[in-house]
Amino acid sequence: MCGIVGYIGYRDAWPIVIKGLHRLEYRGYDSAGVALINDTLKIYKKAGKVSDLEDAVKGIDLNGKIGMGHTRWATHGEPSDRNSHPHTSGDERLAIIHNGIIENYSALKETLLSRGHVFKSDTDTEVLIHLIEDIQDQTGLDLREAVRIALNEVVGAFAIVIMSKDDPDELIAARKGSPMVLGVGDDEYFIASDASPIIEYTKNVIYLNDNEIAFIRREELLIKNIDNVVQIPYVQELELKLEMLEKGGFDHFMLKEIYEQPRSIKDCMRGRIYPSSGQVQLGGIKEYAEKLKNVDRIIIVACGTSWHAGLVGEYLIEECARIPVEVEYASEFRYRNPIISEKDIVIAVSQSGETADTMAAIELAKEKGATIFGICNVVGASIPRLSHAGVYTHAGPEIGVASTKAFTAQVTVLTLMALYMAQQRGTISQSKLIHLLTELDNIPGLVEKCLESNEKIKTISEHFKGALNFLFLGRGSGFPVALEGALKLKEISYIHAEGYPAAEMKHGPIALIDEEMPVVFIATKNSSYEKVISNIQEVKARKGRVIAIVTEGDTVVRGMADYVIEIPDADEVFLPLLATIPLQLLSYHIAVLRDCNVDQPRNLAKSVTVE
Ligand code: G6P
Repeated sequence: MCGIVGYIGYRDAWPIVIKGLHRLEYRGYDSAGVALINDTLKIYKKAGKVSDLEDAVKGIDLNGKIGMGHTRWATHGEPSDRNSHPHTSGDERLAIIHNGIIENYSALKETLLSRGHVFKSDTDTEVLIHLIEDIQDQTGLDLREAVRIALNEVVGAFAIVIMSKDDPDELIAARKGSPMVLGVGDDEYFIASDASPIIEYTKNVIYLNDNEIAFIRREELLIKNIDNVVQIPYVQELELKLEMLEKGGFDHFMLKEIYEQPRSIKDCMRGRIYPSSGQVQLGGIKEYAEKLKNVDRIIIVACGTSWHAGLVGEYLIEECARIPVEVEYASEFRYRNPIISEKDIVIAVSQSGETADTMAAIELAKEKGATIFGICNVVGASIPRLSHAGVYTHAGPEIGVASTKAFTAQVTVLTLMALYMAQQRGTISQSKLIHLLTELDNIPGLVEKCLESNEKIKTISEHFKGALNFLFLGRGSGFPVALEGALKLKEISYIHAEGYPAAEMKHGPIALIDEEMPVVFIATKNSSYEKVISNIQEVKARKGRVIAIVTEGDTVVRGMADYVIEIPDADEVFLPLLATIPLQLLSYHIAVLRDCNVDQPRNLAKSVTVE
């Protein structure tokens, strides 16, 4: 969480930094701040969004060819002007921006307090810049060396940028556990938490590795590790396109991303499926084809929406490849001393590839000898780098904080993996494989059809915009779809919503049902159809208001439910890819009708780099 941007070169830094902060606002929007050197070091910061900062500086001279900015998701210290980044050293000579957490900040702070340091904020970040100042005061070392020594003393995660009033020609950037990309231009450099602030200036980037420090001057870049060994940077070309970062005529990024799904699912499958011959090719994991034949167990670790994709993966892999699967919240798994062996494969699912708990779960499983497969959307992120092998989702940048197209792309990759494993293990016949791959190839077109219900869903949403609670129920792979539907709704509309396996309703949630309670059922024609119909009747008998997602042409559920939304018929294994779409649209429209900030819901951040 938190987004950071830096610039040094021949252009004015302010517009570059501000535009970059807007692009990174998905990482946090509690406050924004910028430091510039224009004669001297100047800092402008404000609680609230980047636009609030822009309003606050109207009329001020913002020249300066070196600058850095920060958009915050508060951890240590409430969102306020005082706790906004950049933070400064006691003598106001040095400024820092930081994404991550300095875990030993309170011990460091105590020592610094005893040495007379006075702090102006409640943040862990300010402690780090005072530590650097203190090292310089005690030793007389130059700033580069003081930063290196300080970083050896801190425990935790960081991506930082430091500027000094005494050296207006240098930015110092470093990372450990939090992302950082350097953009390499002609006589100019860019720094950012991801490539989105950089793409319109240069395609050449360097992904800084953990424990590396970059000393960046207009004409020179030097990278060392924290043991003072010079590193050779690897410059790579970005595949990102600028239009991927814009709303393209939609009111919100979330709606644009919902509508992108026919394309993103197709991109995810491109070059990986061959329906006519019944082949799946996954280059990223092919080295492990033999291991997959004999693997005893798969553990899927993830957080949030990615965890829901993992639950879908459990159904798919068990159904198609007959391998036992466990799905774990990464945050629980990492602290539970889990039983893992070299025979296990751990699949880590993550849109951002930076989620702290998922990364820690990978580290733990690796230590215990497991093979790690990553499923990730952001190319070059930490999780693919930590994994032994993996498959990218290729959904393109997802800007809306509530995940939509990344989820369906994760489910697509898990479907491909399940079929690939089935192919290796011979657990489904070739003719079945041909049938499933032919249907899978058609899924983008069927998703397009699901989107045609948009206007209808908007009308239904009108009836539920005032609801206080919602229940989402499904069985089989409809259960994770229900969980995801409930999560979407609560994230962006702030309506309390719960997802439940439909049969479990009788063991608790049924007590909540009255004429006020909307219940969304995943009631498509699949193996649990009859059972779900009984559950709908149980809800109707208690006067609940039912919205049902049904298979095209269904008349039975139509006769019972208050509202039905049709999706096209497809093999049961593809249900999650289709049934999710109307639920995304339902939560989107309800949130818009409630006047909520759909793309930046309160308290959330897209990339959770703290545990
Ligand atoms: C946050 C985001 C969710 C996401 C979760 C896991 O909570 O708001 O949309 O599902 O983190 O993130 P990851 O990047 O690992 O998928």
